Amino acid sequence: MALRWKNTLNDRDVTDEAHFLNRRQLIGGAAVGLGLASIGAGAGMAAADSLEPNSYEDITQYNNYYEFGTGKDDPARYAGALTTEPWSIQIDGMVDKPGNYALEDIMKAMTIEERIYRFRCVEAWSMVIPWNGFELADLLALAGVQSSAKYVAFETALRPDEMPGVQFPVLDWPYVEGLRLDEAMHPLTIMASGIYGKDIPNQNGAPLRLVVPWKYGFKSIKSVVRITLTDKQPPTSWNNANAREYGFYSNVNPELDHPRWSQASERLVGGGLFAKRIPTLKLNGYEEEVASLYAGMSLKETF
Ligand code: MTE
Repeated sequence: MALRWKNTLNDRDVTDEAHFLNRRQLIGGAAVGLGLASIGAGAGMAAADSLEPNSYEDITQYNNYYEFGTGKDDPARYAGALTTEPWSIQIDGMVDKPGNYALEDIMKAMTIEERIYRFRCVEAWSMVIPWNGFELADLLALAGVQSSAKYVAFETALRPDEMPGVQFPVLDWPYVEGLRLDEAMHPLTIMASGIYGKDIPNQNGAPLRLVVPWKYGFKSIKSVVRITLTDKQPPTSWNNANAREYGFYSNVNPELDHPRWSQASERLVGGGLFAKRIPTLKLNGYEEEVASLYAGMSLKETF
Protein backbone atom coordinates (compact mmCIF):
# COMPACT_ATOMS: atom_id res chain seq x y z
CA MET A 1 0.00 0.00 0.00
CA ALA A 2 2.45 2.58 -1.17
CA LEU A 3 1.19 6.12 -1.14
CA ARG A 4 0.86 8.02 -4.37
CA TRP A 5 3.39 10.79 -4.42
CA LYS A 6 3.00 12.70 -7.65
CA ASN A 7 0.02 14.38 -9.27
CA THR A 8 -1.70 14.16 -6.00
CA LEU A 9 -4.80 16.32 -5.92
CA ASN A 10 -7.77 14.72 -4.28
CA ASP A 11 -11.38 15.86 -4.65
CA ARG A 12 -11.29 18.12 -1.66
CA ASP A 13 -8.16 19.86 -2.90
CA VAL A 14 -9.72 20.46 -6.27
CA THR A 15 -12.82 22.12 -4.82
CA ASP A 16 -10.48 24.06 -2.57
CA GLU A 17 -8.31 25.18 -5.42
CA ALA A 18 -8.43 28.88 -4.47
CA HIS A 19 -5.98 27.92 -1.77
CA PHE A 20 -3.43 27.12 -4.39
CA LEU A 21 -3.45 30.66 -5.64
CA ASN A 22 -1.73 32.05 -2.60
CA ARG A 23 0.81 34.73 -3.17
CA ARG A 24 4.03 32.87 -2.63
CA GLN A 25 3.11 30.15 -5.04
CA LEU A 26 2.04 32.65 -7.65
CA ILE A 27 5.40 34.34 -7.24
CA GLY A 28 6.88 30.91 -7.72
CA GLY A 29 5.24 30.79 -11.12
CA ALA A 30 3.97 27.34 -10.32
CA ALA A 31 0.30 28.09 -9.87
CA VAL A 32 -0.07 27.45 -13.57
CA GLY A 33 -0.33 23.74 -13.00
CA LEU A 34 -2.08 23.99 -9.63
CA GLY A 35 0.11 21.18 -8.51
CA LEU A 36 -0.94 19.07 -11.46
CA ALA A 37 2.52 18.97 -12.93
CA SER A 38 2.67 16.31 -15.55
CA ILE A 39 5.16 13.89 -14.13
CA GLY A 40 4.41 10.23 -14.55
CA ALA A 41 2.79 8.31 -11.74
CA GLY A 42 5.01 7.06 -9.00
CA ALA A 43 4.93 3.41 -8.08
CA GLY A 44 1.90 2.33 -6.11
CA MET A 45 -0.32 5.22 -7.09
CA ALA A 46 -3.39 3.07 -7.49
CA ALA A 47 -3.50 1.94 -3.90
CA ALA A 48 -3.15 5.43 -2.56
CA ASP A 49 -6.69 6.68 -2.68
CA SER A 50 -7.53 4.92 0.54
CA LEU A 51 -5.17 7.20 2.45
CA GLU A 52 -6.78 10.37 3.79
CA PRO A 53 -4.57 13.32 4.69
CA ASN A 54 -4.74 14.51 8.29
CA SER A 55 -6.69 17.68 8.97
CA TYR A 56 -4.98 21.06 8.67
CA GLU A 57 -5.50 21.40 12.40
CA ASP A 58 -3.75 18.12 13.28
CA ILE A 59 -0.81 19.04 11.08
CA THR A 60 -0.37 22.56 12.47
CA GLN A 61 -1.25 22.10 16.16
CA TYR A 62 0.73 18.97 17.03
CA ASN A 63 4.36 19.69 16.27
CA ASN A 64 7.97 19.13 17.18
CA TYR A 65 10.06 22.28 16.86
CA TYR A 66 12.22 22.35 19.96
CA GLU A 67 13.50 25.87 19.30
CA PHE A 68 10.03 26.91 20.50
CA GLY A 69 9.73 24.43 23.37
CA THR A 70 9.38 20.69 23.77
CA GLY A 71 5.59 20.53 24.22
CA LYS A 72 3.56 19.44 21.21
CA ASP A 73 1.56 22.69 21.36
CA ASP A 74 4.54 24.99 22.04
CA PRO A 75 5.41 25.52 18.36
CA ALA A 76 1.86 26.61 17.47
CA ARG A 77 1.87 28.92 20.47
CA TYR A 78 5.31 30.53 20.09
CA ALA A 79 6.54 30.15 16.51
CA GLY A 80 4.51 33.14 15.36
CA ALA A 81 7.43 35.25 16.65
CA LEU A 82 9.76 33.89 13.95
CA THR A 83 10.47 36.54 11.30
CA THR A 84 10.35 34.78 7.93
CA GLU A 85 10.56 37.82 5.65
CA PRO A 86 13.12 38.56 4.37
CA TRP A 87 14.63 35.06 4.16
CA SER A 88 17.57 33.67 2.33
CA ILE A 89 19.46 30.41 2.22
CA GLN A 90 23.22 30.33 2.08
CA ILE A 91 24.29 27.55 -0.25
CA ASP A 92 28.00 26.85 -0.01
CA GLY A 93 30.75 24.25 0.08
CA MET A 94 31.29 22.12 -3.02
CA VAL A 95 29.09 24.09 -5.41
CA ASP A 96 29.89 26.14 -8.52
CA LYS A 97 27.83 29.13 -7.43
CA PRO A 98 28.04 29.57 -3.67
CA GLY A 99 26.03 32.44 -2.27
CA ASN A 100 23.10 33.75 -0.36
CA TYR A 101 19.97 32.84 -2.31
CA ALA A 102 16.95 35.06 -1.59
CA LEU A 103 13.74 33.13 -0.98
CA GLU A 104 11.88 35.07 -3.71
CA ASP A 105 14.53 34.12 -6.27
CA ILE A 106 14.40 30.48 -5.22
CA MET A 107 10.61 30.39 -5.46
CA LYS A 108 10.66 32.02 -8.90
CA ALA A 109 12.99 29.32 -10.17
CA MET A 110 11.15 26.33 -8.71
CA THR A 111 8.07 24.37 -9.78
CA ILE A 112 5.68 23.78 -6.91
CA GLU A 113 3.90 20.44 -6.75
CA GLU A 114 1.62 18.86 -4.21
CA ARG A 115 3.01 15.71 -2.60
CA ILE A 116 0.86 13.72 -0.20
CA TYR A 117 3.33 11.85 1.97
CA ARG A 118 3.24 9.71 5.05
CA PHE A 119 5.14 11.36 7.89
CA ARG A 120 6.49 9.10 10.65
CA CYS A 121 8.06 10.54 13.79
CA VAL A 122 10.66 8.47 15.64
CA GLU A 123 8.37 8.83 18.68
CA ALA A 124 5.97 6.39 16.92
CA TRP A 125 3.20 8.76 15.83
CA SER A 126 2.38 9.50 12.22
CA MET A 127 0.30 11.67 9.93
CA VAL A 128 -0.45 11.96 6.22
CA ILE A 129 0.48 15.44 5.03
CA PRO A 130 -0.33 17.20 1.73
CA TRP A 131 2.83 19.25 1.24
CA ASN A 132 3.47 21.82 -1.45
CA GLY A 133 7.05 22.10 -2.46
CA PHE A 134 9.79 21.39 -4.97
CA GLU A 135 12.48 18.78 -5.33
CA LEU A 136 15.64 19.50 -3.38
CA ALA A 137 17.57 18.35 -6.44
CA ASP A 138 16.22 21.37 -8.35
CA LEU A 139 17.44 23.76 -5.68
CA LEU A 140 20.87 22.11 -5.60
CA ALA A 141 21.03 22.40 -9.38
CA LEU A 142 20.71 26.20 -9.04
CA ALA A 143 23.97 26.22 -7.13
CA GLY A 144 25.66 23.55 -9.27
CA VAL A 145 26.83 20.55 -7.26
CA GLN A 146 30.49 19.68 -7.82
CA SER A 147 31.52 16.08 -8.45
CA SER A 148 33.55 15.96 -5.24
CA ALA A 149 30.41 16.42 -3.08
CA LYS A 150 29.12 13.34 -1.26
CA TYR A 151 26.83 14.74 1.46
CA VAL A 152 24.50 17.68 2.06
CA ALA A 153 24.42 19.48 5.42
CA PHE A 154 21.47 21.62 6.55
CA GLU A 155 21.11 24.21 9.27
CA THR A 156 18.05 25.84 10.89
CA ALA A 157 17.90 29.53 11.82
CA LEU A 158 19.10 30.31 15.33
CA ARG A 159 17.34 33.37 16.76
CA PRO A 160 17.47 33.47 20.56
CA ASP A 161 15.28 36.60 20.54
CA GLU A 162 12.52 34.82 18.66
CA MET A 163 13.00 31.23 19.83
CA PRO A 164 12.26 30.78 23.53
CA GLY A 165 13.35 27.12 23.45
CA VAL A 166 17.00 27.73 22.59
CA GLN A 167 17.79 29.02 26.06
CA PHE A 168 17.56 25.36 27.12
CA PRO A 169 20.38 23.02 26.17
CA VAL A 170 18.03 20.27 24.96
CA LEU A 171 20.10 20.07 21.77
CA ASP A 172 23.22 21.84 20.51
CA TRP A 173 21.81 24.80 18.61
CA PRO A 174 21.48 25.50 15.76
CA TYR A 175 19.57 22.36 14.75
CA VAL A 176 21.57 20.61 12.03
CA GLU A 177 20.84 17.69 9.74
CA GLY A 178 22.39 15.88 6.82
CA LEU A 179 21.78 13.52 3.93
CA ARG A 180 23.96 11.49 1.63
CA LEU A 181 24.03 13.20 -1.77
CA ASP A 182 22.04 10.44 -3.49
CA GLU A 183 19.33 10.69 -0.81
CA ALA A 184 19.23 14.45 -1.27
CA MET A 185 18.94 14.10 -5.05
CA HIS A 186 16.16 11.49 -4.88
CA PRO A 187 12.93 12.80 -6.43
CA LEU A 188 10.96 12.01 -3.25
CA THR A 189 13.10 14.48 -1.27
CA ILE A 190 11.48 17.90 -1.26
CA MET A 191 11.73 21.34 0.25
CA ALA A 192 8.23 22.21 1.46
CA SER A 193 6.87 25.74 1.27
CA GLY A 194 3.21 24.94 1.86
CA ILE A 195 0.61 22.64 3.38
CA TYR A 196 -2.88 22.25 1.93
CA GLY A 197 -2.00 24.91 -0.64
CA LYS A 198 -1.30 27.61 1.93
CA ASP A 199 2.10 28.99 2.93
CA ILE A 200 3.66 26.64 5.43
CA PRO A 201 2.97 27.88 8.98
CA ASN A 202 5.95 28.86 11.13
CA GLN A 203 5.40 25.90 13.48
CA ASN A 204 5.85 23.53 10.54
CA GLY A 205 9.12 25.13 9.47
CA ALA A 206 8.43 28.28 7.47
CA PRO A 207 9.41 29.44 5.03
CA LEU A 208 11.19 26.32 3.69
CA ARG A 209 11.77 22.96 5.39
CA LEU A 210 13.14 19.67 4.22
CA VAL A 211 10.84 16.62 3.86
CA VAL A 212 12.38 13.15 3.48
CA PRO A 213 9.36 10.84 3.69
CA TRP A 214 11.14 7.50 4.18
CA LYS A 215 13.13 8.72 7.18
CA TYR A 216 12.06 9.51 10.73
CA GLY A 217 10.65 13.02 11.01
CA PHE A 218 13.64 14.54 12.77
CA LYS A 219 15.61 14.35 9.52
CA SER A 220 13.09 16.81 8.02
CA ILE A 221 14.77 19.95 9.29
CA LYS A 222 12.73 23.14 9.55
CA SER A 223 13.32 26.80 8.61
CA VAL A 224 16.53 26.10 6.68
CA VAL A 225 19.06 28.95 6.41
CA ARG A 226 22.12 27.10 5.17
CA ILE A 227 22.86 24.17 2.86
CA THR A 228 26.45 22.99 2.52
CA LEU A 229 27.76 20.44 0.03
CA THR A 230 30.61 18.46 1.53
CA ASP A 231 32.63 15.28 1.11
CA LYS A 232 32.32 14.31 4.80
CA GLN A 233 29.31 12.92 6.64
CA PRO A 234 27.93 15.98 8.45
CA PRO A 235 27.05 16.03 12.15
CA THR A 236 23.33 15.86 12.97
CA SER A 237 21.59 17.20 16.07
CA TRP A 238 19.92 14.03 17.37
CA ASN A 239 22.96 11.89 16.65
CA ASN A 240 25.09 14.41 18.57
CA ALA A 241 22.61 14.29 21.44
CA ASN A 242 22.43 10.48 21.64
CA ALA A 243 24.32 8.43 19.07
CA ARG A 244 23.11 5.11 20.53
CA GLU A 245 19.48 6.03 19.88
CA TYR A 246 19.65 8.15 16.72
CA GLY A 247 21.83 7.33 13.74
CA PHE A 248 22.76 9.39 10.70
CA TYR A 249 20.49 7.44 8.35
CA SER A 250 17.38 7.09 10.52
CA ASN A 251 15.42 5.25 7.87
CA VAL A 252 11.97 4.17 9.09
CA ASN A 253 12.40 0.53 10.08
CA PRO A 254 9.69 -1.48 11.86
CA GLU A 255 12.22 -4.27 12.40
CA LEU A 256 14.62 -2.15 14.43
CA ASP A 257 13.22 -0.94 17.73
CA HIS A 258 14.30 2.24 19.41
CA PRO A 259 16.26 1.23 22.52
CA ARG A 260 13.32 2.49 24.61
CA TRP A 261 10.23 1.60 22.53
CA SER A 262 8.98 -0.53 19.67
CA GLN A 263 9.00 0.84 16.12
CA ALA A 264 6.76 -1.95 14.79
CA SER A 265 3.61 0.17 14.87
CA GLU A 266 2.57 3.80 15.07
CA ARG A 267 -0.31 5.94 16.33
CA LEU A 268 -2.01 7.79 13.52
CA VAL A 269 -2.58 11.29 14.95
CA GLY A 270 -6.13 12.57 14.78
CA GLY A 271 -8.13 9.57 15.84
CA GLY A 272 -8.98 11.04 19.23
CA LEU A 273 -9.78 8.46 21.89
CA PHE A 274 -10.06 5.82 19.21
CA ALA A 275 -6.73 6.67 17.60
CA LYS A 276 -5.77 3.83 15.32
CA ARG A 277 -2.46 2.04 15.79
CA ILE A 278 -1.27 0.90 12.42
CA PRO A 279 1.69 -1.25 11.40
CA THR A 280 4.78 0.73 10.46
CA LEU A 281 5.96 0.10 6.92
CA LYS A 282 9.55 -0.50 5.92
CA LEU A 283 11.08 2.75 4.68
CA ASN A 284 7.70 4.24 5.64
CA GLY A 285 6.01 2.68 2.62
CA TYR A 286 8.52 3.99 0.07
CA GLU A 287 10.54 0.79 -0.19
CA GLU A 288 9.91 0.41 -3.89
CA GLU A 289 11.19 3.91 -4.58
CA VAL A 290 14.23 4.09 -2.28
CA ALA A 291 15.39 0.61 -1.23
CA SER A 292 17.97 0.64 -4.05
CA LEU A 293 19.77 3.51 -2.30
CA TYR A 294 20.70 1.05 0.43
CA ALA A 295 21.55 -2.02 -1.64
CA GLY A 296 24.17 -4.05 0.19
CA MET A 297 23.84 -2.03 3.39
CA SER A 298 22.32 -3.54 6.53
CA LEU A 299 19.59 -1.19 7.70
CA LYS A 300 19.87 -2.71 11.15
CA GLU A 301 23.58 -2.13 11.56
CA THR A 302 23.68 1.17 9.73
CA PHE A 303 20.80 3.08 11.25
N1 MTE B 1 13.61 20.99 12.85
C1 MTE B 1 14.05 21.85 13.79
N2 MTE B 1 14.78 22.91 13.41
N3 MTE B 1 13.80 21.69 15.11
C2 MTE B 1 13.10 20.60 15.57
O1 MTE B 1 12.90 20.47 16.80
N4 MTE B 1 11.91 18.54 14.99
C3 MTE B 1 11.94 17.41 14.06
C4 MTE B 1 11.65 17.86 12.63
N5 MTE B 1 12.40 19.05 12.28
C5 MTE B 1 12.61 19.66 14.62
C6 MTE B 1 12.88 19.91 13.25
C7 MTE B 1 11.02 16.35 14.45
S1 MTE B 1 11.46 15.41 15.80
C8 MTE B 1 9.88 16.09 13.75
S2 MTE B 1 8.94 14.71 14.09
C9 MTE B 1 9.42 16.98 12.69
O2 MTE B 1 10.25 18.13 12.51
C10 MTE B 1 8.02 17.46 13.00
O3 MTE B 1 7.49 18.18 11.91
P1 MTE B 1 6.02 18.77 12.02
O4 MTE B 1 5.94 19.52 13.31
O5 MTE B 1 5.84 19.65 10.82
O6 MTE B 1 5.09 17.59 12.02
